[in-house]
Amino acid sequence: MADPSAVRADDLVKGLSAVRADGLVKVFGDVRAVDGVDLHVRQGEIFGVLGPNGAGKTTTLRMLATLLPIDGGRAEIFGVDVRRDPHRIRQLVGVTGQYASVDEDLTARENLWLFARLQGLAGARARTVAGDLLERFGLQEAADRPLSQFSGGMRRRLDLASSLITRPPLIFLDEPTTGLDPRTRGQMWDTIRELVTDGSTILLTTQYLDEADQLADRVAVIDRGRKVAEDTPDALKTQVGDSTLQLRLADGSDTALAADVVRRLLGEDPVLTPESGRMNVPLPDPDRAADVLIGLREAGLGISSVSVAKPTLDEVFLALTGHGADDEPGTDDESRTDDESRMEAAR
Ligand SMILES: Nc1ncnc2c1ncn2[C@@H]1O[C@H](COP(=O)(O)OP(=O)(O)O)[C@@H](O)[C@H]1O
Ligand SMILES: [Mg+2]
Repeated sequence: MADPSAVRADDLVKGLSAVRADGLVKVFGDVRAVDGVDLHVRQGEIFGVLGPNGAGKTTTLRMLATLLPIDGGRAEIFGVDVRRDPHRIRQLVGVTGQYASVDEDLTARENLWLFARLQGLAGARARTVAGDLLERFGLQEAADRPLSQFSGGMRRRLDLASSLITRPPLIFLDEPTTGLDPRTRGQMWDTIRELVTDGSTILLTTQYLDEADQLADRVAVIDRGRKVAEDTPDALKTQVGDSTLQLRLADGSDTALAADVVRRLLGEDPVLTPESGRMNVPLPDPDRAADVLIGLREAGLGISSVSVAKPTLDEVFLALTGHGADDEPGTDDESRTDDESRMEAAR
């Protein structure tokens, strides 16, 4: 095996795109799981692939990572053709989620050491790298506990650490926070941002608009194997609609008067439900919520409840595709074919 550390982000010519995929296609039986997707990821950015279950996100990543054959189109990673030079591609890309068959009885440190050895690092170097990664991912304390005692968040961090052993310049994260609690999710987001600060490029998939919003510089929205939009998170949200300030006025407060306050402050017409004292205010800029609340207080109007609702993935989908994110006919990740298992084994 070539020395993987020979390929490093700083060695690569600046200005190259990290991923350039054109017209990617993957067909499973009569399902076109990926149906002509273009993805152009620049070096040093976080690029998000956003879509519901079954949209084709994982399949796209797996083709780019050489874990699945590409049925149509072409892809280059840092200028290297994915089909022509799969060995080189594997040195350039770190993929999470591929170490599913780790030994539960081994400790985190042993697992990392083992992966490092498998990737061709010498014993002493493997130990150093494992130690560094455990520290970096806040796993030192748990380092010598068996994996069977690890929480979901710790496993995710260890998985990410494993994909960084060879310090690949491009990292694929397939739904890195699905199923994590909010605090662990936030920690994972911080970790991902740090990777970019250190010079990595990230291609991640997510089902959550807020995750794409938090992390991604640019987002491709995928629906039934096709890209239906690509833009910055802000631009996507603007396309879809504004956040909404949802208020319920205190008993006896005057909704008409409240509406006047909103119109004066924001120049927007709120939606009123006078019977229940509810008022929904479109917020082009969420910052203005405070202005509305202060304005209402100054007008002597009481508020019994308040919340700000952001556009959801469902709304993004409805706006972009005319159908919801949930009415997807496809099956989910469970149905792996023998073909794919063999690919995994081959890698
Ligand atoms: N190995 C496979 N064999 C058959 N169909 C598959 C296989 N992998 C994925 N699919 C199908 O391809 C579509 C896209 O799946 P996937 O890429 O996993 O979507 P996502 O990651 O966006 O949830 C789904 O309809 C899924 O059922
Ligand atoms: Mg998936």
